[in-house]
Amino acid sequence: MNRTRIAGIGHYVPEKRVTNDDLSKLMTTNDEWITERTGIKERRYGKKHEETTATMGAKATRLAAERAGIELEEIDFIVFATLSPDFYFPGSGVLMQRELGITHKEVACLDVRNQCSGFVYGLSVADQFIKTGMYKNIAVVGSEMHSMGLDYSDNGRHVTVIFGDGAGAVILQPDTRPDAGILTTKIHSDGTHAEQLAMINPGCHGGYHGDKEKYNYPDPSTYGGIFFTPEMHDENMLYPDMNGQFVFKMAVQKFPEVIMEALADVGLDKSDIDMLIPHQANLRISQFVQKKLGLSDDQVYNNIQRYGNTTAASIPIALSEAWQEGKIKDNDLVCLAAFGSGFTWGSALIRW
Ligand code: UT7
Repeated sequence: MNRTRIAGIGHYVPEKRVTNDDLSKLMTTNDEWITERTGIKERRYGKKHEETTATMGAKATRLAAERAGIELEEIDFIVFATLSPDFYFPGSGVLMQRELGITHKEVACLDVRNQCSGFVYGLSVADQFIKTGMYKNIAVVGSEMHSMGLDYSDNGRHVTVIFGDGAGAVILQPDTRPDAGILTTKIHSDGTHAEQLAMINPGCHGGYHGDKEKYNYPDPSTYGGIFFTPEMHDENMLYPDMNGQFVFKMAVQKFPEVIMEALADVGLDKSDIDMLIPHQANLRISQFVQKKLGLSDDQVYNNIQRYGNTTAASIPIALSEAWQEGKIKDNDLVCLAAFGSGFTWGSALIRW
């Protein structure tokens, strides 16, 4: 069976920088709070009406394809991860396919809705298709246009200050080298605490799931399970919400656990890791994981300071930057790890 290699990688971040001071003009927050709690100094926002999750994904994919030395037409499968899709449906995969103009041949698109773990999930799925020989050039994309869907009032400040826009992509191909490429992927989920980090509305739940007071579910007797009503907008029900402290505690437990699981699977040790690319959720989480694994500063790549949390895009953006900066070399053991909404979490080990 083939192994899978990352043949090309690219990323795109929009030009507009939004600093913590910029946000403090919109809501009651400040640079000190954001920096201390998250490490974030600024994030990028896409150009409204010109850029979308799909167009940013397309830019990252173009670069990844160029670096892989393939024509876009050679891409035979697109795996697109996002929580901020252009449309409710269809997914952003087909919109990116159209944007790239590769509709003339049989390309399949799969949309992944695993939020912060979306890229690792996408990588894991794509890896199986390469290994079985079904596809030869798979684009795995993570892209987010968070800035279009955040609550810029004080109600949303605990979520809004964290997120930023951007996209990253890889081209996966079969790898004939022995013991190289993607060595293993591990993916997990547990929906017990689904509402702790979620955007519940608009949705088709009709108020079904649990405590509506606690989780801001609309009252079904008022809304009748309607997918969207103007009241949902008026009553601030259309934004993501997070129980930050609860998510933080889960994250610092699951990141090391899933990394150790992947290492054990291939008979390696944490001391074998050359570069850890954690999902950029919070600098404090990354630092906790680094300490737990006994890694030095130059063995962990962080760019949350400049981009905030770009959810499904954070790992491929960080991987792309680390590679561009020469921090990943041939034969290095690269570890990707993510945790987020669902909860879902996962890891990947790649011999570069
Ligand atoms: O990527 C997916 C996974 N996500 C994560 O892993 C995120 C994990 N969680 C976190 O990163 C942190 O919990 C946050 C950065 C989200 C929040 O930090 P925290 O230390 O947990 O703060 P908190 O939510 O407990 O809020 C502490 C205080 C509150 O005020 P009181 O009640 O103590 O008076 C908040 O109202 O900070 C207040 N606060 C803010 N103050 C200034 C909340 N947001 C802000 C803000 N600016 N933006």
